[in-house]
Amino acid sequence: MALTLVTGGTGHLGRDIVDRLVRDGHRVRVFARSPGARPDVEWAAGDLATGAGLREALHDVDTVINAATYSPIARRGGVRPVDLFRSPSAVDVEGTDRLLSLCREASVRHFLHVSIVGLDEATLPYARVKLAGERLVRASALSWSVVRAMPFYYLLDRLLSGLAWLPVWPVPTVLFNPVDTSDVADHVVKSAFDGMRGEREEIGGPEDLDLVDLARQYQDARGLHRKILPINLSDARARGMGFVVSHGARGQLSWTDWLQRNYSGARSAA
Ligand SMILES: NC(=O)c1ccc[n+]([C@@H]2O[C@H](COP(=O)([O-])OP(=O)(O)OC[C@H]3O[C@@H](n4cnc5c(N)ncnc54)[C@H](OP(=O)(O)O)[C@@H]3O)[C@@H](O)[C@H]2O)c1
Repeated sequence: MALTLVTGGTGHLGRDIVDRLVRDGHRVRVFARSPGARPDVEWAAGDLATGAGLREALHDVDTVINAATYSPIARRGGVRPVDLFRSPSAVDVEGTDRLLSLCREASVRHFLHVSIVGLDEATLPYARVKLAGERLVRASALSWSVVRAMPFYYLLDRLLSGLAWLPVWPVPTVLFNPVDTSDVADHVVKSAFDGMRGEREEIGGPEDLDLVDLARQYQDARGLHRKILPINLSDARARGMGFVVSHGARGQLSWTDWLQRNYSGARSAA
């Protein structure tokens, strides 16, 4: 049976991609720094930043889904001043480059790269790093697909949670449609095996939400009572921060339902 390697298969999106592949009956190998215990997939230990274990992980692989990334902001759930100046590129640029050239050596038939909607105008250093990685994929001689997704609900949860200590939340009044990783995973897996290639339909969530409303819903779900201070942003500034509405494929899970799933009970406990 054809083998699919998932990089970043232990991450938020990666875990959902692996679930979906297994459910669909694919043979799956997960490339990870710390292999997990799941018995229904193969595990390949390694590190994209150094290349350790990568050649071995690609043995016999037909399709690669590259969902690995290193975002300090997502990891710690907050923006620090340093994030406005630089973001490490060892995984997303050098790691992607290394992965692409080893995929060519290993005669991989399809390389699907996960990326982010609106990167061309986004100004944060992490976005510039992601764009550089994406450009390497587009320039590759491999058969490739790029799927761009809107920000994930889990990341918004982390960022908003980091504001919980503040009595007043300054929140931009911008419209965007964040999405759940389960919907993105379905779209990624479909795109990996539908026979098409190149720039693929991007994916966002089902509703266009104002960030102010989204933050209010978040506070309600968690039983928080913080004053929200709406901040007006120009369109260019909003796009620079990655706040756009994606008009591609739409996921199904709403922010309200995601909050319900993750915080039902939090209100009464608060
Ligand atoms: N988060 C968002 O809102 C968002 C929105 C649109 C698109 N995306 C894209 O979706 C993809 C997945 O994002 P995510 O939020 O699910 O990421 P995540 O939860 O932070 O997971 C990242 C994955 O990459 C792995 N990784 C990191 N450094 C590595 C290294 N040196 N070698 C090998 N693996 C390494 C991590 O494994 P370890 O546990 O070993 O670190 C983890 O499995 C990325 O391409 C991201 O840019 C994300």
